[in-house]
Amino acid sequence: MPASSDLSDRPGCVQWPLAQPWPLQTNELRLGVMASGEGSNFEALVTACREGPLRGRVLQLVVNNPGCGAMARAQRLGIPCALVDHRHHHSREQLDGALIQTFAASGVDLVVMAGWMRIVTPRLIGAFPSRLINIHPSLLPSFRGLDAVGQALAAGVTLSGCTAHLVSEDLDGGPILAQATVPVLPGDDRSSLAARIHRQEHRLLPLAVALAAARLRDRTAAAADPSAPAGPPSG
Ligand code: GRF
Repeated sequence: MPASSDLSDRPGCVQWPLAQPWPLQTNELRLGVMASGEGSNFEALVTACREGPLRGRVLQLVVNNPGCGAMARAQRLGIPCALVDHRHHHSREQLDGALIQTFAASGVDLVVMAGWMRIVTPRLIGAFPSRLINIHPSLLPSFRGLDAVGQALAAGVTLSGCTAHLVSEDLDGGPILAQATVPVLPGDDRSSLAARIHRQEHRLLPLAVALAAARLRDRTAAAADPSAPAGPPSG
């Protein structure tokens, strides 16, 4: 079978994290997105909000690279886009301070790092506790950091995929929200494998956002009434 075949939609090739219904969403989520490159995950989130199944609205995109694909997509989709260029900031903390200010001004509840190619600091993580989500193109905890797809190919794995997780100070090491798998096919190169993973990311990320919101809601409810029975697992 040629490496370009898309097996990702065949039963058995995609393993969603739980055989569960879409997480119950009571409130419309107010989302911020950070992107550095193409922005296909950003667009997938906007589409999931506009056409379902995600009950939310992307209020603000922030990019760090002028002229990147994500910026052009924001213009086409009519989403406000702010440029926060890391080259104009002296430190990571200062860059993250500018991000916090931008998202605070747009009043977002959750922030999604959809291909944000900068390391974030405790300052940003602390501003959005359990509300900062990242998508990574490997089955974490395998192949953290840069070039995860190349790392997977070099290791010779036959199964790869993507992981959406909460961001912690441990690079690509925060609590996992959801994962999807894809096969690695004979003859795959970075580009064919990355394309197969990307298709799964676009499905996984909206689900992960809903799961993160459900976790927050369950925690808030438990804090308000510690005697209440725990709700169903939310991922
Ligand atoms: C994705 O593969 C994501 O996992 C990684 O960066 C890539 C972004 O792709 N963090 P895009 O810009 O959303 O198309």
